[in-house]
Amino acid sequence: MCGIVGIIGKQPVAPLLVDALKRLEYRGYDSAGIATLDAGLIKRRRAEGKLINLENLLGNDPLSGNTGIGHTRWATHGVPNETNAHPHQTEKLAIVHNGIIENFRELRDELIADGYNFVTETDTEAVAHLITRSMDNGLDPRSAVSQNLERLEGAFAIGILFKGEENLIIAARRGAPLAIGYGEGEMYLGSDAIALSPFTNVLSYLEDGDWAAITSGGVEIHDVSGGRVQREKQVTVASSVMVDKGNYRHFMLKEIYEQPEVISHTLSHYLDFATSSTRFPKELPFDFANLDRIAISACGTAYLAGLVSKYWFERYARVPVDIDIASEFRYREMPLAKGGLSLFISQSGETADTLAALRYCRAQGQHIGSVVNVRESTMARESDAIFQTLAGPEIGVASTKALTCQLSVLASMAVAVGRAKGVLSGQQEEKLVHNLSEAPKFANQALKLEQEIQKIAGDLAKVKHVLYLGRDTNYPLALEGALKLKELSYIHAEGYAAGELKHGPIALIDEDMPVIVIAPHDKIFDKTVSNMQEVAARGGRIILITDRTGAAKASMDTEHTLIMPDMPDILTPLIYSIPAQLLAYHTAVFMGTDVDQPRNLAKSVTVE
Ligand code: M6R
Repeated sequence: MCGIVGIIGKQPVAPLLVDALKRLEYRGYDSAGIATLDAGLIKRRRAEGKLINLENLLGNDPLSGNTGIGHTRWATHGVPNETNAHPHQTEKLAIVHNGIIENFRELRDELIADGYNFVTETDTEAVAHLITRSMDNGLDPRSAVSQNLERLEGAFAIGILFKGEENLIIAARRGAPLAIGYGEGEMYLGSDAIALSPFTNVLSYLEDGDWAAITSGGVEIHDVSGGRVQREKQVTVASSVMVDKGNYRHFMLKEIYEQPEVISHTLSHYLDFATSSTRFPKELPFDFANLDRIAISACGTAYLAGLVSKYWFERYARVPVDIDIASEFRYREMPLAKGGLSLFISQSGETADTLAALRYCRAQGQHIGSVVNVRESTMARESDAIFQTLAGPEIGVASTKALTCQLSVLASMAVAVGRAKGVLSGQQEEKLVHNLSEAPKFANQALKLEQEIQKIAGDLAKVKHVLYLGRDTNYPLALEGALKLKELSYIHAEGYAAGELKHGPIALIDEDMPVIVIAPHDKIFDKTVSNMQEVAARGGRIILITDRTGAAKASMDTEHTLIMPDMPDILTPLIYSIPAQLLAYHTAVFMGTDVDQPRNLAKSVTVE
């Protein structure tokens, strides 16, 4: 939810901290701050709002010092102002924190009773005073941190700098990710590999309950029992080049345009185009042929990818799928048969609710599979099998290429399971694999519609409410179109299964209500046409996204008809995502909202 970074360097670290925070800003952008040690004294600068405000502040009032920590915030406790911005400081230390300390009230009351003065509304300040109190009582920094970690309830990753300790940063993690980076006589700490990518690609990931004392000479890691442990050093492929906007105005637009390439990359990992067959690792801990049920959990757009895959698994593999929003699933106490497959879908691999659902399923004796984009993520590390999406870093808060890569993996998997179970013949597998191989071509064709979509967006930018309709695999896409529009343009939008319209939402239809109908010409197209007629009869404004055959057959008056290429059914949720993304993107651009960092959101939601 927040991004943290720490550096023990050989040169002034303030510019490096800011540079690393730029790559973490996707995690939160309500405020930012850094603290350094200058001749043993802690100095800090903090600013409300985007990182640029901190940069400007540092331009006028620079910080020196070769050791420092930094933070970019997504507010959980306390409004996003300078006082609540991290690092939080006491006389002895400065701390940055990602996560939530659930028992902070109890700790705060106890510390106030002991004479400690609180100046912020944050939960983090309780941790700062807790450790300070132990140091006031004579403990050294290492003992003070390790002794107090067990008092903290909740999920967190922290980095702490101590007055007079130029060669020390202490870090700890429980439930939120934290990586240690190794340099030449320099050491780093960061929420992810990309933050540290210009400095080092050699990393160790702390495990849950670990705390670490980082010095310029290396790191000393202790596990939850306090014993010294080694965490494997890994060479990561994360590169700062990948997080460049290039010539695009926004990351989101760049990521939309990357889709033909990343879909192709992902599909070719799971499909063998030469033999027109699927290829999943042979050494999976479960057998596709024996699957008789799959439980899927995820959040937001990733959940909608899962919802599309329910249709695919049930249609192509005849395997029933239970799918839940992870925040509901984790408390639903669903009975799960031992040895079944639970599948988790996540771009970041760090979403707290999805991770909690994963741990619940693990405790129920399920096999754990994850469709994740970040291979080094917690979810990937806690899974028995990783089905990685090869989307590359997604920086725009709105998920675009991550979704189409998730769909690419899930479609390939449904076909593989169908074939393994004998539901699909070799010929049927061949045909579906061939169909999927055409996704990059159709994605390119969909991108060519951008100018036309821009015109429709000009009209959408003038309305207050929008309804999206779809059926079958395009019903989740209607939900996704509405989610994208809401999060980017702040226009109220709802997605519905087209057949559900007459059960309530039709009451909303009037001449001010655009209804976006996602309806490729498929076996239930005629049903959707009936729903459009219901809308037209009530004066609703129809924006139809269909194909050449659909446009010809609908023969209806629409405000706009966007004509996509004709394509096989299995591809429509993948390819029709693109006009939905472009529509939301251009509407947001028209409205002047912050496309890459919409208000109140964060890319990775690592709190409950
Ligand atoms: O990293 P995850 O895929 O687990 O994230 C899940 C959701 O938070 C995410 O898809 C969110 O809904 C996006 N902002 C939607 O564009």
